[in-house]
Amino acid sequence: MCGIVGAIAQRNVVPILIEGLRRLEYRGYDSAGVAVIQDGEIRRRRKQGKVAELAAAIEADPIEGRIGIAHTRWATHGVPSERNAHPHVCRNTVALVHNGIIENHETLREEQIAAGYEFTSETDTEVVVHAVYDQLQRTGSLLEAVQATVAKLEGAYAIGVISVTEPDVLVACRKGSPLVIGLGIGEYFIASDIAALLPVTRRFIFLEDGDIAELTPEGVRIFDEAGNPVERPVKDSEVQLDAVERGEYRHYMQKEIFEQPRAIAETLEGRFNGLKLIEEAFGNDAPAVFDRVKAVQILACGTSYHAGLVARYWMESLAGIPCNVEVASEYRYRDPVLLPDTLVVTISQSGETADTLAALEEAKRRGALHSLAICNVQESSLVRESDLVLLTRAGPEIGVASTKAFTTQLVALMMLTLALGRRHRLDRVTEKRIASQLFALPARVEDVLELDDRIRALSERFADKQHALFLGRGSHYPIAMEGALKLKEISYIHAEAYPAGELKHGPLALVDADMPVIAVAPNNSLLEKLKSNLQEVKARGGELYVFADETLDVQPDDHTHVLTVTPTENELSPVIFTVPLQLLAYHVAVIRGTDVDKPRNLAKSVTVE
Ligand code: G6P
Repeated sequence: MCGIVGAIAQRNVVPILIEGLRRLEYRGYDSAGVAVIQDGEIRRRRKQGKVAELAAAIEADPIEGRIGIAHTRWATHGVPSERNAHPHVCRNTVALVHNGIIENHETLREEQIAAGYEFTSETDTEVVVHAVYDQLQRTGSLLEAVQATVAKLEGAYAIGVISVTEPDVLVACRKGSPLVIGLGIGEYFIASDIAALLPVTRRFIFLEDGDIAELTPEGVRIFDEAGNPVERPVKDSEVQLDAVERGEYRHYMQKEIFEQPRAIAETLEGRFNGLKLIEEAFGNDAPAVFDRVKAVQILACGTSYHAGLVARYWMESLAGIPCNVEVASEYRYRDPVLLPDTLVVTISQSGETADTLAALEEAKRRGALHSLAICNVQESSLVRESDLVLLTRAGPEIGVASTKAFTTQLVALMMLTLALGRRHRLDRVTEKRIASQLFALPARVEDVLELDDRIRALSERFADKQHALFLGRGSHYPIAMEGALKLKEISYIHAEAYPAGELKHGPLALVDADMPVIAVAPNNSLLEKLKSNLQEVKARGGELYVFADETLDVQPDDHTHVLTVTPTENELSPVIFTVPLQLLAYHVAVIRGTDVDKPRNLAKSVTVE
């Protein structure tokens, strides 16, 4: 998704802006641009493609300035192209970058064309820069011009804007899209994500919805939506610079897969007293809220949704509590019925997914009493909007395809299952057993990571395939879905997941030697049934890849490849079986030569609908 960086300093800000854009690359984008004020004029460079190409263009034809804004664009309105890339400029006076979507852009565009403004792009953003320019003619102040402009905007936005009429002022604002201010010494920055600014500062102000900020060499002034000056807290970030470096790994995704044992251990740390979950880990009010909960509604998107689907099995079979899971983009536009005393649980690695935020709002509007966010970003909108929070401590996840965020979400959801289960079906002995399994999980995941070489070898066989089918049963069906999602996201192989019992109701028609079938086969009560499903595939000449527990007696042959993971006779086996599927997708993508960390058309943080 689009990324913003901006800076005002006593030095040339172009290197800061370019480095910031590089650090936002993981969000996904298709063009990039920078604008500065130099010698009283707006100087701009834009490029379709990568930040490296923009950097090369600037090196070939340099610009510099003490104030500037920069952007990586992920196309929504208008194709990826240089003319649609930000910053957008009005009459060589105002330059602006924008994340989000302006919903009333067509009306504004018509008005502006009638007023003589010339459009040079197909973006929804361009109306904003013309509107700011227009207001600037009336008010003579960039801050007031932005205040007047946003009053007319419908939709979601984070904006950074500069004007040659006030070369010492950078104005930024946000509504619905994230924006953070970085505080240096005598220099100030804006960005859509703190990762962009870690080389220059650790001190941040997180703007609230509707805030407008004015950054000058003297400092930062913030105004709320009504125009009143407000103070927002300054937070010191503890994110380590090296946490966002790739180190010895070839890709961030690979690094993040291998970080899972540590991420899981950190998610558990300090949240148990011996083998007893400390419920206050979810917030001080958590015990009182949990006492009232009679049902759970989970809302999430993408990989986080798959975590929710696994949790439904746990909530119902272990805790004995009814649990619904729904894709947030569907929930927000449905007419859902919310039972009294339902806990609304949102799951999100970024905490900024527009659909998940809107679904939460919808649930609140429908009278949801309590909300809980399971999220990887403390400063995110989702965390701010929720009553209770359990932070996954996966650390920054840069690869667009989510890995360590997912497995830590599962850990957090199991902790929630324990907390709610105590009040319902879960007995103390089972709680203790699961708690010890949780603490054993990092070591178990380490064991699975040892299979890396074998999985890489297997991956060779997928390199020329166009389709793949993933099968699972019970709580491993969502893991099959997650395996299929990983494979399609990064290798561009079309992959589908089915509950294995559904095979004969349709997908079996597709099975032949060109359709690899990947089965997740833990040793649980459904194993015998799954084995019959595998026979159905073999009988049709299909190529089978079975990720199994060592107790499975499926004999490997030319068309049956068995990859054994350590025995998984426990409730947490969905976490264990996730890892080989992540590695499979990763190696297949590497062999096929795709952009593993930044797959085409996808974004890490989806802040638009
Ligand atoms: C994007 C990301 C996925 C993620 C999904 C939901 O599509 O590429 O990795 O699962 O958004 O994001 P969230 O931040 O809410 O978990």
